[in-house]
Amino acid sequence: MTRSWSIAIDFGTSFTSAAVRTGGTVHPVLFDGSDSFSSQVALSMDGELLTGPSATQFPSRVERVPKRAVASASQVRLHRRTLQPVDLVEAIYSYVAKTARTQFMLGDSEPGRVVLTHPVRWTPGAVAILREGAQRAGLSGAHTSTEPVAAGRALLVDREVEVGGSIAVYDLGGGTFDTAVLQRTKDGFSVIGAPGGAAIGGEDFDSALLELVGHRVGEMASPEVWEQVFAGPDTGRQGALIRQDVVKAKERLSTYDKAEVYVKGVAGELVISKAEYESLIKAKLETTVTELVRTVRDSGVEVKAVYLVGGASQTPLVKSLVSEALPKALIRKAKQPKLTVACGALTKMKKPEKPKPVLKVEAPKIETKPAESTYRPTYTPSTPTSSSSGSKVDLSPAIGVILVVLAVVVGVIMVGGLLSAIFGLLAAIF
Ligand SMILES: Nc1ncnc2c1ncn2[C@@H]1O[C@H](COP(=O)(O)OP(=O)(O)OP(=O)(O)O)[C@@H](O)[C@H]1O
Ligand SMILES: [Mg+2]
Repeated sequence: MTRSWSIAIDFGTSFTSAAVRTGGTVHPVLFDGSDSFSSQVALSMDGELLTGPSATQFPSRVERVPKRAVASASQVRLHRRTLQPVDLVEAIYSYVAKTARTQFMLGDSEPGRVVLTHPVRWTPGAVAILREGAQRAGLSGAHTSTEPVAAGRALLVDREVEVGGSIAVYDLGGGTFDTAVLQRTKDGFSVIGAPGGAAIGGEDFDSALLELVGHRVGEMASPEVWEQVFAGPDTGRQGALIRQDVVKAKERLSTYDKAEVYVKGVAGELVISKAEYESLIKAKLETTVTELVRTVRDSGVEVKAVYLVGGASQTPLVKSLVSEALPKALIRKAKQPKLTVACGALTKMKKPEKPKPVLKVEAPKIETKPAESTYRPTYTPSTPTSSSSGSKVDLSPAIGVILVVLAVVVGVIMVGGLLSAIFGLLAAIF
């Protein structure tokens, strides 16, 4: 018997992740044990398009950021072969579909539902390329969802946001920034106002840092050394390794004040400080925050929290700029930033159950809670959900009044009993 299943794919600029719903539960797809894989696509020696871990073996025959080729509908030249963006998408989606079928033992059965996520600002033409790529990968009839709306669905359920509560999503990934405001409703959720976005992401910060490193190599050694190891025409594997090293240094600067980059041919330590790095990226981050604020204002609601999603949102300057711009909102991080979008695209937003009065001895209250989702995310809320007081009725005053009345009645009975005993005793004596 074939099992019914659905799949969502979050094709990212840097990493791709996916989720499968089967047996009523949403699970992440694992790629060699990891919840995502590099979105690079390589052309093998046999002319086959490879993605996933095997693509990284061919640094000189690789398209590092295929999502940008899709966004701009540009052809890609790989080792004298011209490829269309849809060829790259097909390679990525085929690898995901094959991995999911194996992991969940789905055989050749068709998925009941396919959801492809994409940035807010993509043109219908770019989204059509995703659909065609999915069709070629055997995933036909795909639905699409914008990335921040998919993430917001997961967060609304995960954080048990009360009906009427609103949150903003700030998703800064490898190549795109996306934002949206979502509100929990009785029947599910609404997107409030127009979601926003900008073509800004970690790739831009890598380029800025690489430029700074190149400049420092020029000062510490010579511009020719940088040309030989990174910026020249045939730097292939060596250039790829320097890029990797610089990306790691950038990520370390989210935790430490300094990071070192090793460049062959440079004597001495090439150290970048956090302050230097932040000054390089501040203007771009301010653009994303302006877009977030515009989206929140456009929604006309007050958001209780802004959720930071996407790898590049871990940059500490993001949190400080967002809290400066929206001082009343709580700033929260998604615990598993890579899976929020893919899992959210499959999250079922059920109608919350009718409020049931629950009278407990220690805390008598009536609770109104959104219906349990069958998706059980592994995120742990970092604080109690912002507010649920609007939907709870406190019965303590009523119970207090009942207890006082009971005490008075018992007291009267007891005093009456005592008096009649005294009078009985007096009557016996006299
Ligand atoms: N600790 C960190 N500090 C700063 N940046 C980080 C950190 N960890 C990861 N990144 C960056 O996050 C980016 C990848 O994020 P993510 O996986 O969310 O992007 P994506 O989904 O592939 O891209 P997009 O959604 O923009 O198409 C990379 O540029 C990576 O270097
Ligand atoms: Mg992303």
